[in-house]
Amino acid sequence: MEIIQFDTQQELDAYAARYITDLVKAKPQAVLGLATGSTPIGIYDKIVQIHKNEHVSFEQVTTYNLDEYVGLQPKNDQSYAYYMNSHLFSHIDIPAEQTHLPNGMAANIEAECVRYDAMLAAQPVDIQLLGLGHNGHIGFNEPDHGLSGGTHVVKLKPETREANARFFDSMDEVPEFAVTMGVGSILKANTIILAVRGADKAQIVKEALTGPITTNVPASLLQTHPRVIVLLDREAGRMLD
Ligand code: F6R
Repeated sequence: MEIIQFDTQQELDAYAARYITDLVKAKPQAVLGLATGSTPIGIYDKIVQIHKNEHVSFEQVTTYNLDEYVGLQPKNDQSYAYYMNSHLFSHIDIPAEQTHLPNGMAANIEAECVRYDAMLAAQPVDIQLLGLGHNGHIGFNEPDHGLSGGTHVVKLKPETREANARFFDSMDEVPEFAVTMGVGSILKANTIILAVRGADKAQIVKEALTGPITTNVPASLLQTHPRVIVLLDREAGRMLD
């Protein structure tokens, strides 16, 4: 596990964006695993800048997002489909049909999970971008006595709903369920970039990176992966020796 600490969030964003766009330059048909939440926004901004300034094309790139809420239409501005379009997809030249998120509106959500896993099996992810939840979740794989390998439906923990309520008008509007790639699928990516910022994540960063490997801290399973790059700002890394 390579851990890189940055003085500023801008430096972290620039590093992650450069890493991802360098892969796309070297491998135009790259498969990218993407995340939502507040952490990647600056990274996506920088990717868009590099796309525009340096003409890095995403025409042949394929993307798979980690997760989506159950019951939100893609046009709902809190859905992750909407987020991805507004922060990244609409600003680069990637064809819409090459961008994938789990369909949280599927009538048969179990069949949707099987469909998503089949696509992931056919197109292994080159780089998976991850953020980190305060309780150690990655994707929406919440702490539990066991974790699912593949894509599945999860009931969101109260603390996760509360953390995400800041994006909604009221707590009642925060969905209770989400569809997420499983930890098994996440760990199949060739390279994983875990980006974390902020003092409020310092404790969970320490537990995830240096504590025991346990399903109670899903991100601790990243310690088993051969190629994880952890990008931290000064605050998020302050409890590491
Ligand atoms: C989002 C996701 C989540 C977030 C995590 C951190 O697709 O998978 O695991 O990465 O909740 O969210 P932020 O970045 O908002 O602190």
